[in-house]
Amino acid sequence: QATSIPADRVPDMEKRKLLNLLLLGALSLPSGFMLVPYATFFAPPGSGGAGGGIVAKDALGNDVIAADWVKVHGPGDRTLTQGLKGDPTYLVVESDRTLATYGINAVCTHLGCVVPWNTAEKKFICPCHGSQYNNQGRVVRGPAPLSLALAHADIDDGRVIFVPWVETDFRTGEDPWWS
Ligand code: FES
Repeated sequence: QATSIPADRVPDMEKRKLLNLLLLGALSLPSGFMLVPYATFFAPPGSGGAGGGIVAKDALGNDVIAADWVKVHGPGDRTLTQGLKGDPTYLVVESDRTLATYGINAVCTHLGCVVPWNTAEKKFICPCHGSQYNNQGRVVRGPAPLSLALAHADIDDGRVIFVPWVETDFRTGEDPWWS
């Protein structure tokens, strides 16, 4: 009797456990689950080479050619492409009209909605629960707990290649939560 949990606490604990499970699933399933077989298939862990990457695809499913992309997407542009694991990933055009060396995964770290870029506010603003991320995808307002994931955007033979980002997150100085 002395060791049993008071009955009125049980529902709370169960609820919390369930929430944690849901959250964990939402966060780690898409990233952890797919990335492992992917990474081990294409490249030895930690190689960081272009061998671990995939070609970015535009909305029509065509390979993204860097030179063509910056002709039609001006400075500051953030447009969705298909990235690693098929995740919607923003290609970023810098103010000098070059492509940024990173892409921003558009999947909200709260519950997984795709976060649109708001040109006027220069932020990513999630329509689901209002989380906000700055122009590099760093979280600036919750409920999202984490910044948007990064991928390297390399150029190989003129095409844009997304490569898993396993290094320090340059926006936070922390280890990447997604790798
Ligand atoms: Fe983006 Fe909830 S899913 S704020």
